[in-house]
Amino acid sequence: MISFDIITIFPEIFASYFSESIIKRARKKKLIKINVHNLRDYTTDRHRTVDDRPYGGGAGMILRADIILKAVRKIVNAKVGDRERRIVLFSAKGKPFNQKKAQEFAKKYKQIILISGRYEGVDERVARYIADEEISIGEYVLTGGELPAMVVVDAVSRLVPGVIKEKSLKEESFSAGGGEYPQYTRPEALEARKYVKNWRACPLKLKKTKVWRVPKILLSGNHKRIEEWKHRQSIEK
Ligand SMILES: C[S@@+](CC[C@H](N)C(=O)[O-])C[C@H]1O[C@@H](n2cnc3c(N)ncnc32)[C@H](O)[C@@H]1O
Repeated sequence: MISFDIITIFPEIFASYFSESIIKRARKKKLIKINVHNLRDYTTDRHRTVDDRPYGGGAGMILRADIILKAVRKIVNAKVGDRERRIVLFSAKGKPFNQKKAQEFAKKYKQIILISGRYEGVDERVARYIADEEISIGEYVLTGGELPAMVVVDAVSRLVPGVIKEKSLKEESFSAGGGEYPQYTRPEALEARKYVKNWRACPLKLKKTKVWRVPKILLSGNHKRIEEWKHRQSIEK
């Protein structure tokens, strides 16, 4: 079982996402555990202050390293060996998160502590002295590390044995390296005009093809040729 411990100042953000679908089932089956910790619970002042102004000046507020240290110290599970625990700080300038990293996390760690920044960011000493690594989920700046935490929990959880079907994972491990092949379901022939009455006035800029068909090869029943087609398609993509 992997335990995810998320440190945040907005703990309510997570409830809905983690209570649905695959993540919900994985939690129920005790394949994963998700604990959300409110950073403010580790403050001692009346206002539950977690941030302060940056030294040297500059815009915005910075999350304090001392409060984060207190939280991490409390959350660390002493029963988990050091090598089986990873402390991650989310940062737009961190190493990119990708499928390979998700696989590494799912395989190696039993406890993953995820620190979500907010405001102008986090006191650099968290990256230097507390976190094992800084991770970015993409080349853009978000308002906080909560979405990155959800992304990491989601991507890692589905790689934990038993969470989703082995066959789906196998197909994906290939597609994550290249493109995924196109997939189709019913109807076999989609008559677009049936759904769009006044074609000319329709604000959707649809291509003129009247009937949208599933590639014939997928209906052929020839599994060998279908597999070859999928392989070719994903390379092309
Ligand atoms: C508004 S951002 C801070 C931005 C920071 N001043 C900068 O220029 O990079 C607040 C927090 O959101 C999180 N964050 C923002 N973008 C992110 C990204 N692309 N990947 C991971 N975390 C991100 C980080 O935890 C960050 O501390």
